[in-house]
Amino acid sequence: MEKAGSSAVSGKWENELGSVMELMVKDSGQITGKYTTAVTTEDSSQKEKTTELVGYINTDQTKQTTTIAFCMAWKIKGSCSAFSGQIFKEDNGTDVMKTTWLLHSPAESLGENWDATCIGENTFHRCP
Ligand code: BTN
Repeated sequence: MEKAGSSAVSGKWENELGSVMELMVKDSGQITGKYTTAVTTEDSSQKEKTTELVGYINTDQTKQTTTIAFCMAWKIKGSCSAFSGQIFKEDNGTDVMKTTWLLHSPAESLGENWDATCIGENTFHRCP
């Protein structure tokens, strides 16, 4: 897997769970967008599975690397999640975004906070 050059991070991306996000990147590196999750921590949640996201990309022109961080708040359970990672080019030239995320679900008390955060990884490819 090669490193990716900057730029074209804008557009639609889908991960291995079937979640889809649409990113719009400004010249400053600021990202806005929306994220629709295919999964929730609440069974049969009828609540909104789409939410806004904000973040940054950081491109190093010398190294030709692009790192990314973005986060969002969910109406589902009042949780928040944060993703960070990097965009690479696969051997066949396809863009791939490798991320690690933290999801914090609201704990009802300080004593219950210890298991309120989940960590995981998602891999995103551009939607065709
Ligand atoms: C919740 O269940 O509290 C809100 C939805 C959380 C969706 C998470 S965020 C990390 C992981 N990657 C996804 O695409 N969806 C889940």
